[in-house]
Amino acid sequence: KNGRVFVELQQDAESHGPETSLLTAEKGINLTHIESRPSRSNSQEYEIFINVDTACSQALDEVIDGLRTQISGHVHELSRNKQKDTVPWFPHEIHDLDRFANQILSYGSELDADHPGFTDPVYRARRKEFADIAYNYRHGQAIPMVEYTKEEKDTWGVVFRELKTLYPTHACREHNRVFPLLEKYCGYREDNIPQLEDISKFLQSCTGFRLRPVAGLLSSRDFLAGLAFRVFHSTQYIRHSSKPMYTPEPDICHELLGHVPLFADPSFARFSQEIGLASLGAPDEFIEKLATVYWFTVEFGLCKQGSEIKAYGAGLLSSFGELQVSTYWRLHTFDPEKTCIQKYPITEFQPVYFVAESFEDAKEKVRKFAGTIPRPFSVRYNPYTQSIEVLDNTQQLRNLADAISGASCPDAASHAATLQ
Ligand SMILES: [Fe+2]
Repeated sequence: KNGRVFVELQQDAESHGPETSLLTAEKGINLTHIESRPSRSNSQEYEIFINVDTACSQALDEVIDGLRTQISGHVHELSRNKQKDTVPWFPHEIHDLDRFANQILSYGSELDADHPGFTDPVYRARRKEFADIAYNYRHGQAIPMVEYTKEEKDTWGVVFRELKTLYPTHACREHNRVFPLLEKYCGYREDNIPQLEDISKFLQSCTGFRLRPVAGLLSSRDFLAGLAFRVFHSTQYIRHSSKPMYTPEPDICHELLGHVPLFADPSFARFSQEIGLASLGAPDEFIEKLATVYWFTVEFGLCKQGSEIKAYGAGLLSSFGELQVSTYWRLHTFDPEKTCIQKYPITEFQPVYFVAESFEDAKEKVRKFAGTIPRPFSVRYNPYTQSIEVLDNTQQLRNLADAISGASCPDAASHAATLQ
């Protein structure tokens, strides 16, 4: 009975399975599917998945409440067929991110016909190797080291050399401050592709951010949820060698040269996490807005530094061409309310860029924006337990107030400000 229980709820479904007696007898609810498995995180525990359907929302609430009082574990409601009052499931603990590994939108070895590696069987086989590593990865494990081929290192070398010449003039000061540390501690060199595990350890020592290999494309909801735990889903493969200066998708050059340096900066880490926290349990339309905010900041953001404007977005910092076209930039001030509705192309240069005053300022703006998201609770990340605390009643608010008065957690203090 010491198990985590996942409950998936469906209303008005047409199918009615044969196993209906338990819940039907009590509440008029049809139990259509149930399965259990030993927990992957704790061999002493079990995970149980239950699928039911009913037309009565109140009966569902009663059953879930009943489970919560009878079971010494966690009950997660996964879905209720998008009923208006339903909060989409979100990870509460950092190892809940393991569930995303198996719900990718496309596997990393499935390439589009216009991908430079589409007709290269060796490249495709290699991509599958990387996808398999990520697919089998679980939180807490070391990210497997990869022996990169000479061809792969050569591709990396071209990208590394070209981009490094642009950073002193085009990258923000935070990027330029961290880059030499990555060269010193993580093996950033023209002739070496650094290992995700080494970088993840380095980031953890700087800001608590960590990397996690990803097997393919995640949904925006899942990807953003990772940021709430200071987890960044990273690719491990490299672009095709025929076009070293082009990739139609994120690759290790993009992640390591564009994203990683910024995640070592405390202010940027807080900003990124804020976007992730805002996404937890948010309705679909807000996920799309937050993904757009992410696009124009973490991927293509610019920021003021003195009298100059510099790049901090990873899409810019990993694009030799786009980083140099600064004189053509159409610039707007970063404002989540406006930024979140801006349309954008994925495979061309951006038609417009948003400029942040600072990462702290951008974080505060995202936090305010998060306050407009309709969800019946607030969330707080507890860095000691690496879990999300849902603040939806006075007792939890009181606990938070106690934590703040103990001055044990600066993040708690700043989150409390939004609750007042
Ligand atoms: Fe990216």
